[in-house]
Amino acid sequence: MSKKITLAVLLSGSGTNLQAIINSINNGKLQADIKIVISNNKNAFGLERAKQCGLKNLCIDDQAFKDRETYDKKLIQIISKENVDFIVLAGFMRILGSNFVKRFPNKILNIHPSLLPKYPGLNTHRKVLDNKDKEHGVTVHLVDEGLDSGPIIGFMKLDVSEGENESELESRIHKLEHFIYPKILSQLQEGRVLIDDSKIKIDEIFYENGKEYFN
Ligand code: GAR
Repeated sequence: MSKKITLAVLLSGSGTNLQAIINSINNGKLQADIKIVISNNKNAFGLERAKQCGLKNLCIDDQAFKDRETYDKKLIQIISKENVDFIVLAGFMRILGSNFVKRFPNKILNIHPSLLPKYPGLNTHRKVLDNKDKEHGVTVHLVDEGLDSGPIIGFMKLDVSEGENESELESRIHKLEHFIYPKILSQLQEGRVLIDDSKIKIDEIFYENGKEYFN
């Protein structure tokens, strides 16, 4: 059995993805330690979840910093001390600048509620419905300096149902997120996902556009 991985989780909101990761650790499916949970938003319920689970948690309020560079510098300082294997963005609604991304190469993961590269940014469920897309999904990827961009590790799809509204779609997407994020973290822990340059190798197979996962 390979050793546990250590994580820093960054979030801005409700923290249901953080909760899914905590649950996977608690039920033995994911061998990991969350060393710190950081939010840029002091009102994020994700911080409360971290507290309730006895995890170290911290708000680094972005309102208190004059620009992205100084904010990122503070983040780098805090996260470096924790010496984690992976930085897990779980609804962290800020772009990380190039200093941050270069400081932690191949270590920053993000989950996004769309089939990237389609619909980076906000309101993805709305866009899917407005465009009458038949499919929607979630993507887990390595983070580069762009908005929701970087090499894709994995994705899951669902069919959009007739007459489905935005909140119904969002809740089905969340279910996929709560499955795939812990799953990919677990594969990373087991050494089954390797990152070579910007190519992702899972169980000895190279995936150019990410592996499709099934629930
Ligand atoms: C999730 O749907 C996640 O994919 C999304 O924020 C939500 C956070 O939910 N992330 C992005 O849109 C990143 N661009 P949560 O706080 O309940 O985990």
